[in-house]
Amino acid sequence: MVVVSGSNAHGMAGQLADALGWTHHRLETRRFPDTEGYVRIPSDVIEAVRHEPVVLVSNTFPDSGIVETMLMLDALHDVRKGSMKNLRNIGPQTLPDVGKGLILAVPYFGYSRQDKRFKPGESVSARAIAEMLASRCDGLVVLDLHAPPVLSGLSVPVAFTSSMPELAMHLKEQVNPDFILSPDKGAIDRASSVAEQIGCEFSYLEKTRIDAHTITHKAKDLDVAGKSVAIVDDMIATGGTICRAAEALRSQGAVQVHAACCHGLFTGGAIARLLRYVDGVHATGSLPNARDVISGGPALARGVHDVLQALGLD
Ligand code: R5P
Repeated sequence: MVVVSGSNAHGMAGQLADALGWTHHRLETRRFPDTEGYVRIPSDVIEAVRHEPVVLVSNTFPDSGIVETMLMLDALHDVRKGSMKNLRNIGPQTLPDVGKGLILAVPYFGYSRQDKRFKPGESVSARAIAEMLASRCDGLVVLDLHAPPVLSGLSVPVAFTSSMPELAMHLKEQVNPDFILSPDKGAIDRASSVAEQIGCEFSYLEKTRIDAHTITHKAKDLDVAGKSVAIVDDMIATGGTICRAAEALRSQGAVQVHAACCHGLFTGGAIARLLRYVDGVHATGSLPNARDVISGGPALARGVHDVLQALGLD
């Protein structure tokens, strides 16, 4: 079986291939001068992606990633179906349909935070993108999705997989925290699973987001005096959530504060800002970033096995 990737997720595709013991091939991707994208399955990869199930690893972030993912799925779908017809008449024009087995693994699902309609007329963007992707593959694997319910009931099996076991192992080895903090209610499940695996104390904060850059937390007594604390969230974007939580921890006597997440977006100088408040920042490489220290490969591999099983291909 094979893993393929385009331009935005080579690292994760390599980690997944290593975890599964499969071969990783890169698809050809480039841009026309007007910025539109071009994708092609290289001739020497065509047989490999027809032979057995294939996993495409691709991010739907930034926006260009959505288009590239759709184009790569389209090319893989046609090749697996045997639709090879081309104007230069190169190679056989049709081949037998090889059937189901095209899986899309998305390390970072862009638009995942737009998962509800707050006002009439809004697009539920996460759902709209998921439905588009599902129309061109046989199964989806999504890593640490912000709010999984938005993808329920899609037309293909979906595996919601998580890097929290590997994140916990990393924190235990590198930080050995006494206390794990969830910076908001949304991260409670994820962060508490990390605390449980490490075997340390846990609590959470209640967060109010005023705007993209302004966060407040409800005051809460945390038993962190003299302790080493790791704040665990699904993603860090501006870093505002972590910086405010770290302030609360320091003011209550925490001696060390670390921040850990699956998705390191780190927008607009976030890492420099974070390092004024925390002693370390730890992330997976779901998105290429400077704090990629936790492998996401094993989590994606678990999701791939779940989807293969749901498709009866394992
Ligand atoms: C939101 O609920 C997420 O789980 C994160 O807490 C949030 O996206 C982090 O954003 P920022 O780093 O900009 O505060």
